[in-house]
Formats: sequence, C-alpha cells, structure tokens
Amino acid sequence: MNKLIVSLLLTLGITGVAHAAGDATAGQAKAAVCGACHGPDGNSPAPNFPKLAGQGERYLTKQMHDIKDGKRTVLEMTGLLTNLSDQDLADIAAYYASQKGSVGAADPKLVARGEKLFRGGDLDKGLPACTGCHSPNGAGNAAAGFPHLSGQHAQYIAKQLTDFRKEEAGRNNDGDAQTMRTIARKLSDEDIAAVSSYIQGLH
Ligand code: HEC
Ligand code: HEC
Repeated sequence: MNKLIVSLLLTLGITGVAHAAGDATAGQAKAAVCGACHGPDGNSPAPNFPKLAGQGERYLTKQMHDIKDGKRTVLEMTGLLTNLSDQDLADIAAYYASQKGSVGAADPKLVARGEKLFRGGDLDKGLPACTGCHSPNGAGNAAAGFPHLSGQHAQYIAKQLTDFRKEEAGRNNDGDAQTMRTIARKLSDEDIAAVSSYIQGLH
C-alpha cells in the first residue's frame, strides 16, 4: 500500500461517524417506497438509479444522512427522508446491506483501460489504485465506509466521478481528506468512461 493511501485511511478512520445498529427486517418495510426507483431488493433496473443491494451499512447510512440534511443533492428524493428517524435510516441500511447485489457487463472495448486504472492507478499522475480502498473485486470495505462498487451501473458511477471532480450535486461529501475529489480530478473523461464500464462488470 502506498503512503498516500495509508495517510488517507488514517484520516478517514478518525473522521468516521458511528451509527446505531439496524434491523434488516424492519428496514425492508420502511424501504417499500424506495423500491420504485432502487428496485424492491435494491437492484435498480435503471442506469441512473444506483443499486443499493450489497452496499455497506456504514456508507449507506452516511449517504442517507447527507441527502436528508441537504449536503448531497438528489432531487428525485426530495422529502422522502424528511420523516425518517436515525433508527429508520439504520434499519433501511441494514436491509439493503443484507441483499445480494447483481452484476452487469463491461464494454469489451473499454475493459483493458478500465482494469489498468482500477487495479494499478496511474503512477505518473499520482493516482492510487482503486483496489486499495474499494478492494480487488470491488466489494469495498464495509467497516471503513468505503463503498461497494462492483456491478454498479456505469452511468451512475460516471456521474459520481464527474460530480466529485466538479464538486457538483453535493459530492464534496467525501470528508476533509477530499479523497474522492482528489482522485476524480486526476481522471480524464475517457478514464471515467473506461473505469465506470469496468466497475459495471466487476465481481
Ligand atoms: C424517484 C426515484 C427515487 C426514489 C423513490 C428514491 N431514490 Fe434514492 N436515489 C435516487 C437517485 C437518482 C440517486 C442518485 C443521484 C445521483 O446521481 O447522485 C439516489 C441515491 C440514493 C442513495 C445513495 C447511493 C450511493 O451509492 O451513494 C441512497 C443511499 C438512496 N438513494 C436511498 C434511498 C432510500 C432509502 C429511498 C426511500 C426512502 C430512496 N432512495 C428513494 C432516486 C430515488
Ligand atoms: C483512499 C481510499 C480510496 C481510493 C484509493 C479510492 N476511493 Fe473511491 N471512495 C472512497 C470513499 C471513502 C468513498 C465514499 C465517500 C463518501 O462518503 O461520500 C468513495 C466513493 C466512491 C464512489 C461513489 C460510490 C457511490 O455509490 O456513489 C465512486 C464511484 C468511487 N469511489 C470510485 C473510485 C475509483 C474509480 C477509484 C480509483 C480511480 C477510487 N474510487 C479510489 C475511498 C477511496
């Protein structure tokens, strides 16, 4: 692991938020309204709606709080989290975390470039490998709050990387270490297209 990743991991560990334990069974009922976009089991069929199935609890809880507090802008979800308590959000996170995420396919033309970036980063640009935090198979690190990426829709991934790069839609929510903003600024549009397609087929 290189020095950059180690220092980022330390910073993230210190700034991490603790959360209440969730109840997946209670969460399933509370997530009924979410299924319209995210799919009943969290495997959204639409490329612009993220899959939530198999996502880590800590990451899910943080994003729901960010969206509820207006730190991250998701217009489609306006008002949907307003009346949900911290316990409700913890239960919903536990439910989605307990579901199995589905996997898509990568564009064969983009695989080589995407795989190179994901697994090796780019030494010349000082870009760390994504595997350092998101793990070699894209499963992430649930305890650390590093999101599960494997099988996620390429269109959604590309939008997040572009949002981190431009600090749009509230995706300056990666903490004081600015981990993902720093990484995204080093990615070209072509890099983003390749790595996003690779992630969609990764498992
Ligand atoms: C009308 C469609 C819609 C509904 C209903 C909806 N969402 Fe979303 N949700 C979205 C969209 C679109 C995004 C991603 C926006 C973006 O591109 O950043 C999102 C993002 C999220 C994320 C962040 C995922 C990630 O990987 O960072 C979470 C968590 C989430 N929604 C939870 C919920 C929950 C819980 C509910 C129900 C209470 C819900 N959503 C209902 C459309 C919806
Ligand atoms: C040092 C750790 C680290 C490295 C290396 C890293 N990430 Fe991340 N990534 C994170 C963290 C932490 C978050 C969650 C930020 C937040 O809380 O909003 C994240 C979030 C993301 C998201 C948003 C996921 C979602 O569901 O919305 C994407 C996409 C992403 N990373 C892609 C990448 C790619 C591609 C690379 C390699 C080029 C990479 N990351 C390298 C730590 C890292």
